[in-house]
Amino acid sequence: PIGIMRGIQTLRQLLPTKKGVVVTKIPCLEIHDFPRFSWRGMLLDCCRHFMKKEFVMRYIDLLAYHKMNVLHWHLTEDQGWRIEIDKYPKLTEIGAWRTEKDGSKYGGFYTKKDIKEILTYAKTRHITVVPEIEFPGHSVAAIASYPHLSCTGDSINVGTEWGVYKDIYCAGNDAVFSFMEDVLTEVMELFPSKYIHIGGDEAPKYRWEHCKRCQQRIKEEHLHDEHELQSYFITRIEKFLNENERQLIGWDEILEGGLPEEATVMSWRGFEGGWEASAAGHDVIMTPTSHLYFDYYQGSPDNEPVAFNAFTPLKRVYEFRPVLDSMSVEQKKHVLGGQANLWAEYVPNEAHSEYMLFPRLAALAEVVWSPENKLDWEDFSVRIRKMMERFEVM
Ligand code: ACM
Ligand code: ZN
Repeated sequence: PIGIMRGIQTLRQLLPTKKGVVVTKIPCLEIHDFPRFSWRGMLLDCCRHFMKKEFVMRYIDLLAYHKMNVLHWHLTEDQGWRIEIDKYPKLTEIGAWRTEKDGSKYGGFYTKKDIKEILTYAKTRHITVVPEIEFPGHSVAAIASYPHLSCTGDSINVGTEWGVYKDIYCAGNDAVFSFMEDVLTEVMELFPSKYIHIGGDEAPKYRWEHCKRCQQRIKEEHLHDEHELQSYFITRIEKFLNENERQLIGWDEILEGGLPEEATVMSWRGFEGGWEASAAGHDVIMTPTSHLYFDYYQGSPDNEPVAFNAFTPLKRVYEFRPVLDSMSVEQKKHVLGGQANLWAEYVPNEAHSEYMLFPRLAALAEVVWSPENKLDWEDFSVRIRKMMERFEVM
């Protein structure tokens, strides 16, 4: 079924690019085709800005059209909690809504019914949806809903500014681990995916350094510092997921303080985290900011008065290679593939999401699908013009 579905996408790409044209013939050809990497992913951030259910489905269609196979769905953040959890109703009563500076309410969330509908839609299109539930950082919306989950217990608001917040889940409080297990239990009931993404990025250690309970935990568990406390936290999540026959994925910060045994690492701060984790025998997914952050501008840095590092032009995406020459044969086997991330701080709506996605998605799709010796920028930059005509119609 997967092969037939993908073959149909190829057939669609052979049809005329103009709307309303009667198809009388298509090119005669024979294709032997198969994907190079098993993880061909795209992240959708529905937290910084909420995207309606219908758009998530359209996004899935756009991925399927490009023979991508993973939707990494970013569902919890400082600025919004987007997944209904029966045991903790305040996560969506409070955590899904923020009060903007002008006093307006902004937010939204997906009910379990919405999520089931989306997952059925994705399954039909052979897209695996991997949910991301962030621990221990990027958790302000959850803490705003249930203040006892933080080190201070102070009441705080759902985030309204982008960035990294110092309030994170307390690692010394067992109530936090019960919360984690309860939430992930409901997440696993919904999502059949083998992998669950638990975040792990950008968790400042300030609160833990000043928290009696966190310091007590460090002592009791014979940990050296707050990095090892983070490792302790992530390892407890991993143990729980493994007991439920799931695998943990985390951002490359989970390397700090020691990687849990079975963890898969998503390398975002560059390729180094992926290199290091694969050398230690872990699976990795490459999603480096330098090539695959689709929230960056597409324009050429040569003629735009904006810092060079604010750009990720099409050519740079096409130059992305998940496997590095400097890797051993063993390491290379651990590279599952690549993924681009559409963070949504500055992507306020569905139309803008598509604007950022195209045509870069086509470049990524080719890089993670085709054999490396077939990749040819000059050729791609001609073919992409035909695809642009299709994107216009779509
Ligand atoms: C990330 O961009 N913080 C994964
Ligand atoms: Zn604490």
